[in-house]
Amino acid sequence: MDDTDTALAALAGRGITGPFETAVVLGTGLGTIAEALEGAIAVPYGDLPGFPAAGVSGHGGRLVAGTWEGSRVLVLQGRSHYYETGNPAAMRVPLEVVARLGTHHLLLTNSAGSLHPDWYPGSMALISDHINFSGLNPLVGMAGDDRFVPLADAYDRHIRLRLKRAAVQAGVTALREGVYMWFSGPSFETAAEVKMAKLLGADLVGMSTVPEVILARRLGLRVAGLSVITNFATGIGSGNPSHGETKEVALGGSIGLKRLLRSYFRARDDA
Ligand code: HPA
Repeated sequence: MDDTDTALAALAGRGITGPFETAVVLGTGLGTIAEALEGAIAVPYGDLPGFPAAGVSGHGGRLVAGTWEGSRVLVLQGRSHYYETGNPAAMRVPLEVVARLGTHHLLLTNSAGSLHPDWYPGSMALISDHINFSGLNPLVGMAGDDRFVPLADAYDRHIRLRLKRAAVQAGVTALREGVYMWFSGPSFETAAEVKMAKLLGADLVGMSTVPEVILARRLGLRVAGLSVITNFATGIGSGNPSHGETKEVALGGSIGLKRLLRSYFRARDDA
């Protein structure tokens, strides 16, 4: 048995079996959203081989299964970032577990820096596409032709549309949509790097999500990405981000995100 099999067996032993409509990965400072689940069964990552070790402050490190507005939902409360391990495939096992549980959709949430003076901290943005200029890819070293993953429609149009409708219904105004550029971190960007990102067509910068999207698309999961904008990126107006600032704003932003997700699950799926 590999780590994925062992983790699945451990989850089955706690009564967690599929299928699930959606899995939600909660980013830095967004972990409290897991409290919205009803009939929740929570398993610490420490009990699941191949899952992230406790790391960055602000992360709970638990898998939580339950229902939300009648939908069966799996929440991954906390992720592993490349900057913690040096391994771009650090989320391989959790995402394989999600896929093997028969999960249809994957919602990846994160906190991100804004490249636009009018995309304010505290607001949210859907990810339409990404730029990976890191030179890293989580599929390096994997065998088989399925490593050549097409990424033309990596961010699912149907889920994005459903999220936009949910935002309107939840009264979440100014849900932006744009391109997310992955930087490895853990240092923040320089002002020159942010200028470059903007020239290349990015709207948001962040330190996560992109490797997970690549891994998830290889597994056939339909994916969407949702950013809570926690700050202006370095050099955008007064932007000079710090981890403390991003965590604090994410905590406030999680209220709007929870409202949006509740409305998203209430609308159920018709695709
Ligand atoms: N840069 C990179 N990652 C981030 C930022 C940022 O400005 N804000 C939140 N995560």
